[in-house]
Amino acid sequence: MNNHSRILSGMRPTGRLHLGHYHGAIKNWINLQYEHECYFMVADLHALTTGYEETKGIEQNIYEMVIDWLACGVDPSQAIIFIQSHVPAHAELHLLLSMITPLSWLERVPTYKEQMERLSFKDLGTYGFLGYPLLQSADILLYNAKYVPVGEDQVCHVELTREIARRFNHMYGRELGFEEKAHEAIRKLGTKKAALYEELLVNYQQNGDEEALEKARFLLADAVNLSINEEERLFAFLENKSKVILIEPHALITQTPKLTGVDGQKMSKSYNNTLMLREDADSINKKIKAMPTDPARIRRTDPGDPDKCPVWQLHLVYSNDGTKDWVRSGCISAGIGCLDCKKPLIEAICTEQAQFNERAAPYRGDYNLVRNLLADGAEKATEVANNTLQEVKQAMNILY
Ligand code: TRP
Ligand code: SF4
Repeated sequence: MNNHSRILSGMRPTGRLHLGHYHGAIKNWINLQYEHECYFMVADLHALTTGYEETKGIEQNIYEMVIDWLACGVDPSQAIIFIQSHVPAHAELHLLLSMITPLSWLERVPTYKEQMERLSFKDLGTYGFLGYPLLQSADILLYNAKYVPVGEDQVCHVELTREIARRFNHMYGRELGFEEKAHEAIRKLGTKKAALYEELLVNYQQNGDEEALEKARFLLADAVNLSINEEERLFAFLENKSKVILIEPHALITQTPKLTGVDGQKMSKSYNNTLMLREDADSINKKIKAMPTDPARIRRTDPGDPDKCPVWQLHLVYSNDGTKDWVRSGCISAGIGCLDCKKPLIEAICTEQAQFNERAAPYRGDYNLVRNLLADGAEKATEVANNTLQEVKQAMNILY
């Protein structure tokens, strides 16, 4: 992964988040924000595609979710945090891309039918809902995002985005001044690397040397002083292709296993088994104390099997090796009781929650602070997004 590559991810504003969101997605964002230029977006327009009938709570949901992001450690001085609808370029690019998107591409995205069935109590036979993944493509393409951290279920949307980018580039990709821009980028490589690049280019284009193409790819991937646009431009130049206006992104699949909820199923709002972010210690205590354990451990003297116990699943996430060893041996030998076992877990979660609360403290009850931060983010995002939109319009010959 290049460190000059951009990252975009988004989340629909469904309100307060739980620990599953933290371990499943946001923790990953936090690691990425220090290494990359990150854009984290509140996908409010996406929320409308399924929630168009009940929009009253959306504003509060946005603020509460953003406060949860901040509580987790998303840092507005490192990452750009903004609301999708604050950057009109999203809607505009969505519209422009809709002109070249075959209906069949949208109809065959697996989430389309799945969601229709899962949410069959809602009327999702709408134009907006069919366009859900295309709107997501616009989100990604506007920022030239090279990587998109998402869960497994969203990979098909990134895949669609790649296809749309390819179709667009193919259709509109002969840019004015492409050659000059490419030569300018070559100069930026520095004398030595530039000479090597030229040599590899000749080798590939005149002698069909595939190895030269590979070598040049490595050379470009390592060139830290090129922007992502310049890097892609030089790839295209190398292969003697038309200009890449929209960059094909890659999914960065978050590899965290699903967090276990307090009933032993996957943690999810719809199962009502969550531990929320910024939940108070009392309530955490109660929920974990009430958690089911290995059903074979009826009496304190019965030995248990951690692998059959949801509490153990949480230890795997929250406890160090010492504690885990203590749990395993104590459980199997009936040396510890389940309440003993839960104690260090409760402590670890409450310590984490204290951190969340501390980070969220300045924002709690002061939505103005959040609004300012989001306005700031929108301003920065708009600059980048409008730039891409201009290029798209220019390529489509509608910049009059
Ligand atoms: N569809 C994503 C989800 O439901 C949210 C989203 C909207 C998104 N736009 C995005 C994710 C762009 C990544 C990139 O989780
Ligand atoms: Fe589960 Fe711990 Fe009880 Fe074993 S001791 S059954 S791991 S809660």
